[in-house]
Amino acid sequence: MIKIAPSLLAADFACLKEELAKVKDADYLHVDVMDGHFVPNISFGPPVIAAAAAVSTLPLDVHLMVNEPERLIPDIFAAGQGKIDCITVHWEACRHIHRTLQVIRNLKVRVGVSLNPATPVLNLKYILPLIDRMLIMTVNPGFGGQAFLSEVVPKIEDAARLISSLKAGCEIEVDGGIDRQTAPVVVNAGAKILVAGTAIFRAPDPARAIKDLRRASEVK
Ligand code: DX5
Ligand code: ZN
Repeated sequence: MIKIAPSLLAADFACLKEELAKVKDADYLHVDVMDGHFVPNISFGPPVIAAAAAVSTLPLDVHLMVNEPERLIPDIFAAGQGKIDCITVHWEACRHIHRTLQVIRNLKVRVGVSLNPATPVLNLKYILPLIDRMLIMTVNPGFGGQAFLSEVVPKIEDAARLISSLKAGCEIEVDGGIDRQTAPVVVNAGAKILVAGTAIFRAPDPARAIKDLRRASEVK
């Protein structure tokens, strides 16, 4: 079954509790941490994650868009108060990614690695057994509300082929510009988890938008 992960970045932070109640029927809450260095934007850090964890019933899917993320991981983990399902770091942001993945694994949460649009899937080949979730960016990371990059679709297909050829138990997640039109395209290519910010939180009825995304994902 396709899983839906609303991105907190698109929520109205002035009424977080009400916003999170609207997406309670999703599968995960996607949490974007940005440092102003790895990406040109700053979002939020542990205090906001702690506030979201306190009022949301969803498991947290944490996406770290920060350089050398291992120094931040302990504080992020603590802020999640036991609700973190997965911590994802960027391949491009880690000098020694194998070590970083071990740091995450030791916390007994799922291990995710994200790839920018230009980064090849093959970069993950030899560490694939260590990865539970491959987060393929379908926009350049840093901002919500950007247009889906259709040139990334063949990369999702490559990722699905690599995972199946190595019999790895890694799920493909996509992030950026996902809506009712692009959801079936990425699901056909092999995506299993869909992150959506604008298409859910900026919709007139976010609960309905989640249902619509699920329906649009029933493609096979
Ligand atoms: C972008 C973030 C995304 C973002 C997606 O760098 O990683 O999670 O919130 O937003 P939409 O769905 O609006 O493209
Ligand atoms: Zn994200």
